[in-house]
Amino acid sequence: MIGRIERSGHTMIVDGKHYRTIWPVEDGWQIVIIDQTLLPFEFKEVRLESLEDAAHAIAEMLVRGAPLIGATTAYGVALAMHADPSNANLNHACEKLLKTRPTAVNLRWALREMQHVLSALPIGQREQAAYQRAAEICDDDVAICSAIGDNGHRLIADQWEKKNRQSPINILTHCNAGWLATVDWGTALAPIYKAHNAGIPVHVWVDETRPRNQGFNLTAWELAQHGVPHTMIVDNVGGHLMQRGQVDLCIVGTDRTTSTGDVCNKIGTYLKALAACDNDIPFYVALPGPTIDWDAKDGLQDIPIEQRASIEVTHMTGQMEDGRVRTLRIAPEGSAAENHAFDITPASLITGLITERGVTEASQAALAAMYPEKAEGQP
Ligand code: MRU
Repeated sequence: MIGRIERSGHTMIVDGKHYRTIWPVEDGWQIVIIDQTLLPFEFKEVRLESLEDAAHAIAEMLVRGAPLIGATTAYGVALAMHADPSNANLNHACEKLLKTRPTAVNLRWALREMQHVLSALPIGQREQAAYQRAAEICDDDVAICSAIGDNGHRLIADQWEKKNRQSPINILTHCNAGWLATVDWGTALAPIYKAHNAGIPVHVWVDETRPRNQGFNLTAWELAQHGVPHTMIVDNVGGHLMQRGQVDLCIVGTDRTTSTGDVCNKIGTYLKALAACDNDIPFYVALPGPTIDWDAKDGLQDIPIEQRASIEVTHMTGQMEDGRVRTLRIAPEGSAAENHAFDITPASLITGLITERGVTEASQAALAAMYPEKAEGQP
């Protein structure tokens, strides 16, 4: 039985205990994560004891979501430094982690951060510095996501005013960009939690998000535990609801956004943005600064799209009546299947980007004005 998450100030509580999605064991070097492949059926903490454990957790999606992938990457390097802080092992760790998942740019960002800090240090100081920098990356992520929440909350409040405070505000989201995708708070869900906590009546349409069902398994679970009203829908329903005036705005997350404002996010996001555009519904993307790839200009050209195993398409996992969790084939044997994990939503379809620094237009000029130091190539 999974414990109830209660609202307390600005964080999440499971079974009376405050959780982040990743944390170091007290007085030790091991790292603990929540195995997200088991949700919503089981809430299980898993210990990472080595670089290999961290790489496995990312590649097999025990942890997922761009910011949490970044945080796990940083701790993966720390675990490697615990085992062997040599230059050779630092390089090996970075190469291994880099191969785990290709699309979320936070992984590369975290590796650059760790390499920058560690390569300048004598070998004897690397382990402690690595754990310290990884912890800072986690703390920064919480602060960033909280600020995204504040900025997005204002936007939801404005929509509510426009509706003459008629309740509820119906928000559609895709995949999981909640606290499970980050260290705490979430990106797309942070504004929703803040609006809900402030008493604005929000209702969330939760896309299933095939093939891995992050919407049902993770987003619906998070929202239910927090007490946010929501309804699960299969992936093809959003356009229909939009045509009937049942969606006031869309908020999604992103795994990588170009310096020109093209957004890469979970497969299916593009179709939602097209439908929103056709129905004049605001389509917002919530993102932390480290999710911007300043080297990428054209989403279609410059962002590698992860291709995952076809078994995620041909099979589904669920709970039997007797409580056992089983994976079943849902397609004929012998037919080919492809599993494209992400797609690109062009900047032109995006109403605005909700960042920790404020809400801005999805354009090169607006992003450069918001992050001048990055646009000028400063670290
Ligand atoms: O494959 P995942 O589950 O790691 O992908 C995550 C997403 O695409 C999320 O929708 C998200 O918006 C990006 S992380 C906040």
